[in-house]
Amino acid sequence: MKRVLSILSATAIATAAFAHPEAGKIIRISTDNTDLILKVGDNGRLYQTYLGPKLLNADDAAGLGWAQYAASDGSVSKRGWEAYSTSGNEDFFEPALGVTHADGNPTTYLYYVDSSETPAEGGVQTNIRLRDDKYPFDVTLHYVAYPKENVIKTWSEIKHQEKKPVTLSSFASAMLYFNEMSYYLTEFSSDWAKEAQMSSQQLQFGKKVIDTKLGSRAAMHTHPFFEIGLNGPVKENSGEVLMGTLGWTGNFRFTFEVDNVGNLRVIPGINPYASNYELKADEVFTTPEFIFTLSYDGSGQGSRNLHDWARKYSLKDGDGSRLTLLNNWENTAFDFDQDILAELMKEAKHLGVDMFLLDDGWFGNKYPRKDDHAGLGDWEVTHDKLPGGIAALVKSANDADVKFGIWIEPEMVNPKSELYEKHPDWVIEQPNRDTYYYRNQLVLDMSNPKVQDYVFDVVDNILTENPEVAYFKWDCNSPITNIYSPYNKDKQGQLYIDHVRGIYNVLKRIKAKYPDVPMMLCSGGGARCDYEALKYFTEFWCSDNTDPVERVYIQWGFSQFFPAKAMAAHVTSWNKNTSVKFRTDVASMCKLGFDIGLKELNADELAYCQQAIANWKHLEPAIMDGEQYRLVSPYESNHAAVEYVDKSKNMGVLFAYNLSPRYKEKLQRVKLQGLDPSKKYRVTEINLMPGTKSKFAQNNKIFSGDYLMKVGLDVFSFAHNTSMVVEISAQ
Ligand code: DGJ
Repeated sequence: MKRVLSILSATAIATAAFAHPEAGKIIRISTDNTDLILKVGDNGRLYQTYLGPKLLNADDAAGLGWAQYAASDGSVSKRGWEAYSTSGNEDFFEPALGVTHADGNPTTYLYYVDSSETPAEGGVQTNIRLRDDKYPFDVTLHYVAYPKENVIKTWSEIKHQEKKPVTLSSFASAMLYFNEMSYYLTEFSSDWAKEAQMSSQQLQFGKKVIDTKLGSRAAMHTHPFFEIGLNGPVKENSGEVLMGTLGWTGNFRFTFEVDNVGNLRVIPGINPYASNYELKADEVFTTPEFIFTLSYDGSGQGSRNLHDWARKYSLKDGDGSRLTLLNNWENTAFDFDQDILAELMKEAKHLGVDMFLLDDGWFGNKYPRKDDHAGLGDWEVTHDKLPGGIAALVKSANDADVKFGIWIEPEMVNPKSELYEKHPDWVIEQPNRDTYYYRNQLVLDMSNPKVQDYVFDVVDNILTENPEVAYFKWDCNSPITNIYSPYNKDKQGQLYIDHVRGIYNVLKRIKAKYPDVPMMLCSGGGARCDYEALKYFTEFWCSDNTDPVERVYIQWGFSQFFPAKAMAAHVTSWNKNTSVKFRTDVASMCKLGFDIGLKELNADELAYCQQAIANWKHLEPAIMDGEQYRLVSPYESNHAAVEYVDKSKNMGVLFAYNLSPRYKEKLQRVKLQGLDPSKKYRVTEINLMPGTKSKFAQNNKIFSGDYLMKVGLDVFSFAHNTSMVVEISAQ
């Protein structure tokens, strides 16, 4: 990359007539492998001096200068990397925080006040207080470092005691800087049935922004995570990569800016789009958490860092087991009744899953939910369809010896509903413009506490009346359209933010009252997939696209940031040109479920599925709780291979896929990872269709872990859209 020399002078240095009493103070935020080092400059402001592999010597960490020199001859800018850069300062590039003070002044300068360290679950929390020298305006930066997982979580708190409200025009969670020769961004674009599509580009001078303005179905067009390859494109097993994700279930924005001297700043946060925030005195504006890891061995290690961190410290019931299930959406859609459901529950049992999950279409009486035009908001069982109510369904599930779960979409309303008739003022809708509907529905105004109570009651009523309901699938199919809050008329600029906070209020209450009820987060597929929501949900639905070929890519994308345990995958009849085996093997790489009528399966296919479920349960310690290794990328070959190894390195499983091999192409031998080189492992093909013989050349043989990792296995073939699953068991 061409470096642009700058003749900007270091005004910050020039104006610091007297050194600040805390000048030179070092704040070191460390994991086992990474150091983020901040330093108080001579001028009293806080600068990032380092972010990278952990420094061995404390002296070296202390010796880092706060002013960044862009060239060794000192001829260029000595501007510092302000830890939380503010609007109107001498930096001239994108700030983290934009403030207009009560008197109209658009500038803010933050000075170091003090810092503290407090223990946090799994790590250490550092809190750094900053204050403007001319205004009673405060920012506290928080960082939690998780040493073993090499993850850092950071967020900020903004408050003031000015006489009138101040206006926040941007409010990033954090800011990070890099000084490398090149930066390559991998982003994850999305749409309905096309989630987590990975693409990469080199970042050049200027800004690249990834953001969404969707409000509620917030990650429909892109997901709240990214990777940055330093000095080269992101690679799976080598190279330095930053992997970051924002815990926010609303509009988000990542800004990546390469400045005049070739340094990169990364600014993650809530998208300030249409959200000028009026902050009152003493009100605390808490930004979402930005979670990141730096891996020095490619994105594979970065993913494993995040998977471990999530299961231990973030994901709801991260260390618990998961329920396999049979869902009815793809099978019946809205077309079911009590008897049909009772039959499906028996099918669930016959299949061998733990639970039956009833999807959309069970509610509404004045406006029954017989399609997606009516009924949303009226969470009362449709009496004609289900005369015995939820109680009868729970009883049928008990009779069939499976658990019972139920679908809801409580933040939404169809205009054709009793709820809308009773409470039109509970809905986000323009008072003076035509209404724009997405999937024939509107979004409830979650900034309104009465609406929050109502949404809480949807879950609370179901569970109070039917304590045996074992699971919820919580859907969200519409973005916010017609943005306008009838509740908070004077604060329209806060609606996008207050709406999300309202959702969290409800989810917190649900988790407090029903801590053990698992829930799936769904948003017309995978349009909600962030770590704040996942504090309340045990898993998320990756995509309505269950074509196994597409799913290989979608799951590959999401697995960069989420453990398999958080990712729900179902076997359906999407792409019937592929075998039931192929579909099941792909779904088995995540939290396994089914959404298919058993009548669609012949006897062998049914027997196959039953066996595959039993195998999945047996392999749970590897797939759900182990280490994941993405061995062969579908983006880089005509195949894919993913391996899971349990923490004790005694049990593993290799999923290998032949997607679209070319005629006589060279077949790659797949080298395993993460095994104990000194242990011996038997490799056995499992998930075989009844009556078929394994064609796996090394089937049932025993090899050392060393051999398997250095020589590998011949698991690929030329047959399009086929799969092989190999169990690896220590002897
Ligand atoms: C969208 C979800 O992604 C589907 O799985 C299904 O639940 C439908 N909504 C129901 O309307």
